[in-house]
Amino acid sequence: MTIRPPEPRHAEAAAPLAAHEAEENAWRRRHLLDLDDFSVDELELVMSTAGAMKEVLSREVPRVPALRGTTIVTLFYENSTRTRASFELAGKVLGADVINVSASGSSVTKGESLIDTVKTLQAVGADVIVMRHNRSGAPYLAARHADCSIVNAGDGLHAHPTQALLDLLTIRNSIGDVRGKRVVIVGDVLHSRVARSNLWSLTALGAEVVVCAPPTLLPARLGDAREGDLPPVHVETSLDKAIEGADVVMALRMQLERMQGGFVPGMREYSRLYQVNAKRLARAKPGALVLHPGPMNEGVEISHEVAHGLQSRVEEQVTNGVAVRMAVLWLITRHASRGGRSAAKAAL
Ligand code: NCD
Repeated sequence: MTIRPPEPRHAEAAAPLAAHEAEENAWRRRHLLDLDDFSVDELELVMSTAGAMKEVLSREVPRVPALRGTTIVTLFYENSTRTRASFELAGKVLGADVINVSASGSSVTKGESLIDTVKTLQAVGADVIVMRHNRSGAPYLAARHADCSIVNAGDGLHAHPTQALLDLLTIRNSIGDVRGKRVVIVGDVLHSRVARSNLWSLTALGAEVVVCAPPTLLPARLGDAREGDLPPVHVETSLDKAIEGADVVMALRMQLERMQGGFVPGMREYSRLYQVNAKRLARAKPGALVLHPGPMNEGVEISHEVAHGLQSRVEEQVTNGVAVRMAVLWLITRHASRGGRSAAKAAL
């Protein structure tokens, strides 16, 4: 038996990936923390790279050795099914070694700090740490102390950039350019990092974003272009009005675990006014897409029939999550391997 020597990292990138070489030089990020400072070109680059990754995933054997020799650690301080599984699969499809660390089963329970945990994982050989944390800003702290790349897989109420990227890919796959399209984001916006990241990407690409929730579930000053720390969007507290003529309806989960209580009179009252159901969806454009980041509370923010109906893109979102995370891991590790680490560190 002959043992082939390991090839240099990335040397065997698949043909569709190689086609991205030139464009990838435009990628300047070591970390992916949020989309608030993403340019249109960067969003387009992730979308086209994810398109190439979809091609890889459609092969009979969906495996390429593009990230062979790269170690990716998923470090999750909060529960997750789809985000964690899709990052893990994304790394494996690209040939990386993927290690999963849960805070509950790690030395975090013995009192180890976030910074020490990140440094330990780095010392073990992590090139990328994909991190989910219940505190907003935690990945920023990690990025300040890490030599490896940090990818934010959701931090507190703040951001969930790869979810917004996969939402964008899903929308574009069905309706193309989002410019001028009416996208209604409805539900527990206050506690939603998914909504916040989506606001940045959708408005950057010129979508008409309407945010809809009861006033108690809206971030303060949302919609105020002068004051808000989020991009300017339309705010509408009536879903029946907001959904009128929508091209896309994105329902958000009621984040009961983040609520101390008292945000809404009750779940029955909430779903009566804010549930995305067939009757309400009929007010949107014919064939309007329905998205939900999952996990869904069927019967609360979305009816069973809409969640699994013809207009639902929920499953496609999950599938696209793998391609988008492959794209992000690929772009970030290529940048780091081109010597971006020191340059990016200097920029922090
Ligand atoms: C979201 C999250 O965790 O922020 N889920 C996900 O990543 N698919 C949304 C949610 O939990 O409601």
